[in-house]
Amino acid sequence: MTRGLFISFEGIDGAGKSTHIASVADLFRQAGREVVVTREPGGTALSEKLRELVLHEPMDPLTEALLMFAARREHLVQVIEPALSRGDVVLCDRFTDATFAYQGGGRGFDWQMLNLLERMVQTRRDGALRQPDLTIWFDLDPQIAAERLASARVPDKFESQPADFFSAVRAGYARRQAEMPGRFARIDAAQSIQVVSAAVSSIVNDWHQRSVS
Ligand code: TYD
Repeated sequence: MTRGLFISFEGIDGAGKSTHIASVADLFRQAGREVVVTREPGGTALSEKLRELVLHEPMDPLTEALLMFAARREHLVQVIEPALSRGDVVLCDRFTDATFAYQGGGRGFDWQMLNLLERMVQTRRDGALRQPDLTIWFDLDPQIAAERLASARVPDKFESQPADFFSAVRAGYARRQAEMPGRFARIDAAQSIQVVSAAVSSIVNDWHQRSVS
């Protein structure tokens, strides 16, 4: 049976990741794979309720981190693990790297504590830690991201943060990549959408080959 493949998409708000998820889904479907497209926080009825709270209610940083992981636990148990067991491709708009980047980098929440929560929530039955096989990080200067977002829509709690918050989020992603370089692919998201899209396709094709060989 084909092995499941778990890909997460990351980056600061305005980096443009969401645009590319649909085309990655098409790419896999054309290759005959079953694809589950999902997001965090969210992905189950309960996790979507938690998303509403965490994106719009002011709260203590620990509460925020716990709710992100609570939503993730449900999502893993109900959606992600069953899909991977079936051999599906799971495309997730944000995963735990976002918690390290936003709550750790952006909010300054303790990194070791996040490591602990990650272990609690993502340890599988066989004792291994569930991580994405591949994380595509759309890396962008916060100034450019802010310009892109300015004309977009009503900002949520995170999108309305100042530029230095996003510099800290970006540094959080860089730290995660340095800690786990094997699964990260960084794309310079300041490039044109065509160039970024070609980079995404090439990375994804590469990983798809590996997952079926
Ligand atoms: P986002 O993924 O940008 O969705 P949309 O495109 O619909 O706005 O929004 C999710 C927000 O949640 C984003 O600002 C980052 C934040 N977030 C965290 O702070 N921690 C997390 O662990 C996750 C998954 C998201």
